[in-house]
Amino acid sequence: MMTEQHHQARNPKEPHDTMTAQPRLDVEALRADFPALAMRINGKPLAYLDNGSTTQKPKAVLNAVQTFYTHSNANVHRGVHALSQRADALYEGARQAVADFLHAPSAKEIVFTRGTTESINLVAQSYGMTALAEGDEVLITEMEHHANIVPWQFLRDRHGVILKVAPVTDRGELDIDALLSLVTPHTRLAALTHVSNVMGTVNPVKDIIKALHDLDVRVLVDGAQSVPHFPVNVQDLDADFYVFSSHKAFGPSGVGVLYAKRELLEAMPPYQGGGDMILSVSFEKTTYNEVPHKFEAGTPNIEGAVGMAAALGYLQGLPWDLVERHEQDLLEQARRELLTIPGLRLIGTPTRQAGSVSFVVEGVHPHDMGSILDQAGLAVRAGHHCAQPLMARFGVPATTRASLAFTNTAAEIDRLVETVRQAKEWLS
Ligand code: ALA
Repeated sequence: MMTEQHHQARNPKEPHDTMTAQPRLDVEALRADFPALAMRINGKPLAYLDNGSTTQKPKAVLNAVQTFYTHSNANVHRGVHALSQRADALYEGARQAVADFLHAPSAKEIVFTRGTTESINLVAQSYGMTALAEGDEVLITEMEHHANIVPWQFLRDRHGVILKVAPVTDRGELDIDALLSLVTPHTRLAALTHVSNVMGTVNPVKDIIKALHDLDVRVLVDGAQSVPHFPVNVQDLDADFYVFSSHKAFGPSGVGVLYAKRELLEAMPPYQGGGDMILSVSFEKTTYNEVPHKFEAGTPNIEGAVGMAAALGYLQGLPWDLVERHEQDLLEQARRELLTIPGLRLIGTPTRQAGSVSFVVEGVHPHDMGSILDQAGLAVRAGHHCAQPLMARFGVPATTRASLAFTNTAAEIDRLVETVRQAKEWLS
């Protein structure tokens, strides 16, 4: 597949681990693709460990956006002139790129949105308000971020839907038996994250979807924290809805994706009204455009979609077996070394983890920890991570979170651990 060929073209002499003779990811070559990673912050080399919040961008993305504005800038679906045709081709090409990336059967099942949050709001408002009736039940989990909680609360409060919450175990894993025991004949939809943005827990969504489908429950999967860390195949998962944001997957901000099965999109009413989502408008009656355009009112984020396609193309060119092993090695190192610090508690110790590791240190507020790490050139997120119910579940107001990408190195994890150790010595 393209993945391996691309990597071999980039790096014919793959580096090998000197101890095991196994091929390893050429992280330095990949870092060279990301100009921002060469910065110094507070006089120190930047160690960017806040990828769960947003990712830095490779040159492929920067160039795609600049090339679009230099050679193809026009509105889409509205003009016959040459630039308009180019913009159309790039925008619809980006839709096909997303479909390919997710292994969706058709680009018609890809709706461009502003991001994960808007994608979930769209499903809650459009599908939720029509396919669900008062008294129907929606199931979410204790590990959701606010984007996958609040839209369902709107539906509860405005439409009379009942919201149920599946619990998380002390290890930070979903209690799947408990989740399934919450299903009743009234349960219509479950919305859950693929990967926890706080603990990095990877939920076995394929098995969960199968079990829920057997109970006649549709499933929305929040992929905001999964697509940067491993390949996703929506057909293999059999997800009914799958959502993600470009900016967490090395693309521009302000653009994201809703994948939904065609029959669901066909039956769903438009979410917002305006230009482009219509076929004809009179004051008496408006007819809507076909899917997916009926969900895209107004001028979209064209350059964002183009940049996102470049990011997804870049990701598809990576050697994913090596990427995943590299990230797992970093996570394992982070967990092992952090636990040598007295008074440090990991929030979540799941069996399958990707991206994020969260911790609290006795006597040190996470915000102080974040500031000290920043002084040392380390960018992490400190706070509730837009997941306040999960903080409450673990009895903490906030955590410090290091969230990794394939561009991180073992030396950066060493710096993280040593700076956390120093912060603990200074502050507690
Ligand atoms: N959901 C984003 C994060 O986890 C904002 O940081």
